Order: sequence, then structure tokens, then C-alpha cells
Amino acid sequence: MTDHAFPEDFVWGVATSCYQIEGAAQEDGRGESIWDRFAATPGKVIDGSSGAVACDHYHRYVEDVALMKSLNVPAYRFSIAWPRVVPAGRGAVNQKGLDFYSRLVDTLLEAGIKPFATLYHWDLPQVLEDEGGWSKRETAKAFVDYAEAVVRHLGDRVTDWITHNEPWCASMLGYEMGVHAPGVVDKARAIVASHHLLLSHGWAMPVIREHCPGARAGITLNLQPMEPASDSAADHDAWRHSDGHFNRWFLDPVHGRGYPEDMVRDYIAGGFLPAEGMTMVQPGDLEAIAAPADFLGVNYYNRMIIRSEKIPEAQNDPVIRSLAPKEEWTEMGWEVYPNGLYQTLMRVYLHYGPRKMYVTENGCSYSTGPDADGQVPDARRVAYFRDHLRAAHRAIADGAPLAGYFAWSLMDNYEWERGYGQRFGIVHVDYETQARTPKASAEFLAKVFADNAVPVDETPA
Ligand code: FCB
Repeated sequence: MTDHAFPEDFVWGVATSCYQIEGAAQEDGRGESIWDRFAATPGKVIDGSSGAVACDHYHRYVEDVALMKSLNVPAYRFSIAWPRVVPAGRGAVNQKGLDFYSRLVDTLLEAGIKPFATLYHWDLPQVLEDEGGWSKRETAKAFVDYAEAVVRHLGDRVTDWITHNEPWCASMLGYEMGVHAPGVVDKARAIVASHHLLLSHGWAMPVIREHCPGARAGITLNLQPMEPASDSAADHDAWRHSDGHFNRWFLDPVHGRGYPEDMVRDYIAGGFLPAEGMTMVQPGDLEAIAAPADFLGVNYYNRMIIRSEKIPEAQNDPVIRSLAPKEEWTEMGWEVYPNGLYQTLMRVYLHYGPRKMYVTENGCSYSTGPDADGQVPDARRVAYFRDHLRAAHRAIADGAPLAGYFAWSLMDNYEWERGYGQRFGIVHVDYETQARTPKASAEFLAKVFADNAVPVDETPA
């Protein structure tokens, strides 16, 4: 049997984000972020932990880049901490913050690893939140100034830029459900925040291009395929609404279609928007958000089955996240559903027609640790990657312009409100000693990266 070969210039990589790995929260002039504040608030993070130390990557980046090199990693997606670069949110640039990313980028380039930088992976400077955060238009302006400072400094070496990671999470988890920083529960504010996040993406795009000639820039959305739980009209309507809230609310404006009208109607009916609708949208905003992008980043983890009625098994959540038996869930409680990656890529390709797509995150949480011989036999993660990569390969064969794939994550790290208990890494981290141990999945991916192909035979578990 021949392995599934990927296109010749396919970009393979691994991903991380700054708050989840860097630590050094108070070093070299870094300002407070909304995640520092949120994590320090009792009851917000499951194990009471924070990213204050995390994987200590700020001090160990040389070792971490060498580790990536040893695993044949061709590209690395990381994020830049706004509060390191502009500690007060706007105004003075902290040279030491920029220097860190400059050293990281140089080390990557020396190792032959292509940097993909994300400008916002959720760590807003707390001072801006104190002024209203993403529900204020001024925050979008401040983001553009911060982005400009970063790109001016790194744009000679970094050519691949992602403005935002998952604006759905930044707005809805942060301001509607309050389970992420800043922990606000106010749906009306969340909708306004989503617009300002998208607006800041659109405003930043030309600024990135101006300061980085030859830049390739885009945004990363977390997309989830959804299905109605039954044929009933009520389940279908719940499905339409959930898909609108989660997927279309972001996909549509980024692709020049404005905000979905059915959702604007729903939000007005729910009292989350005034009767006049999206009053925060000013002339030119929608055009800005639809700035031509070189790619769309897609983060894929699982699917959702949507029903209209609350059911006890789903803890009164009208959404069922999974149909599969519990044994097949990852430790996040997320169903393993590789076909959902195929469905997502095909949907975006067929309905939105982006120039290119990258899977900017895909991965799974299993807590397998080192055995007596010091090996980490994470067979389920190997199977997860193998099956999702086959799904990605199938989407390419069916025409989807998928140009790259980044595994989440390089190493175990701070999983937000879930703390350190959830391990997504292909490299195990011992948080006591900071020892890094590549897992079986790292060896598996190292071979995929080297072969530019995914095995079709049954990979031994
Ligand atoms: C995504 C986030 C990433 C990580 C994974 C598991 O939503 O972008 O930081 O937490 O989920």
C-alpha cells in the first residue's frame, strides 16, 4: 500500500500560544494580562493554577527549538504576548518584550524552522479590559498599534502572520459565558466584542502588509461541524442558530458577506441587540473585516449535535457535543470525530472559497505519562493524528486548498480554565522539573513531517 502523500509544498508544523507556555509573567517589563487576573480569581481555573511559570519557555526557548528540530518540525506557530510588547496596552513599546520574540525568531530560522506568528491568542492587557476591553472600539485601535510595533520589528524575518486566534472564544467564552478571561457574563457585550475583534483583524491586515512586504496574512477561526439531533423543526432551528452563533457569525463577515441576517434577528429577539440591529457597525467596518486574506486558519477539535430541548445527560445544555460512547472521548470530553475535519474543510472550501486554508490547530488531550522505561506510549494520540490527517488528505483530494497542518501542541501546557490536568502535547512536560519527553505521537509526526505522507496501513498502537 502507498502512503497518502501530501502536496509538495505542504506546510507541516506544531503550535503553541504564549500564555500557555512562556511563564515569566512578571519579567522584563511584561504587563498584566486578563489571563493573569482571571487565573488569580478564586474559582475560575479548575486547579487554581496560572500561566505564571507554565513550561518556562521564556527561559527554555533555545532547548525547545532544538527539540523541534530533532522532531523534524518544519514550521512553528506561536503567539506574541501583547502585554510583553505594549505593557500598558497602548503607547510605549517595551523593547525587552520585542527582543524576546526577536531571539526566538532568529533561533527558529537558524534551525531551519519557519515561524508563523499569531498576534492575539487571548492575552489582552488588563489595563485595556479595565476600560471595557473588546467591547470598546478603542481596543481595536490599540490592537492595530501593537500589531504595527510587532510587524515593524519582526516583519523582516517573519512572513506568515495570523491576526487573531479563535475570536469566537475571545468574545463568547470571555464575555458571554464568562468561562475564559475576562470572565464576563453579558451576551450583548460579547456580540459587540466579536465585532471589535473582527474589526481589529481587518484593520491590522493592511498594516501587516505595509510593514512586511511579501507577508501572507489571515485569521484563525475555530470551526465546528454541527448536525441537528433529529428531523424535528425545533432541532433544525436550534442547529441553524448554533451554527450561526459559532461558525457563520465569523465566517460570513470575513468572507465579505456581513453578519448573518438570521442571527441579527435572533439577537434582537433575544434582547441582545437593540431593535436597530448591529448599531456598533460603522460605515466601512464590513469592508475592512473582509480585507483580502492569503489564507484562512482553521482550528478543528470536534463536532456538535444540536437539539432544542435541554436533556439531563448534557447537564441541561441544549447542545450535545458528542454521540460517541464515552470511552471514545478525549479527556476534554471531546468526541474523536476525524470526519468532522473533512466536513469542515469541504464546507469552507465550497461555501466560502478562501484562497488557501491551514489547519492551524488539531489535537487531543490524553494524560499518558512516561512509563517505567521513560517512554510515553500515547497510542490514542497517534491514532488521532493519523485519522485526522487521513481526513485532511481526503479533503485535499476532493479539491480543498489545504496548504498546511499544525498539530496542537508542541508540548503539554496550561490549558486555560482547565489548568495543567489536560495534556495536549506531543512532548510530555514534567512541571516539577520542566523535563521534556517526546511521546510516541512525536515520533509518529516526525516521520510524517519527514515523509510528507501519512501511512495508510494500520500504525501499530
Ligand atoms: C483551542 C485554543 C488552544 C488550546 C486548544 C486545546 O481552542 O486555541 O489555545 O487551548 O483549544
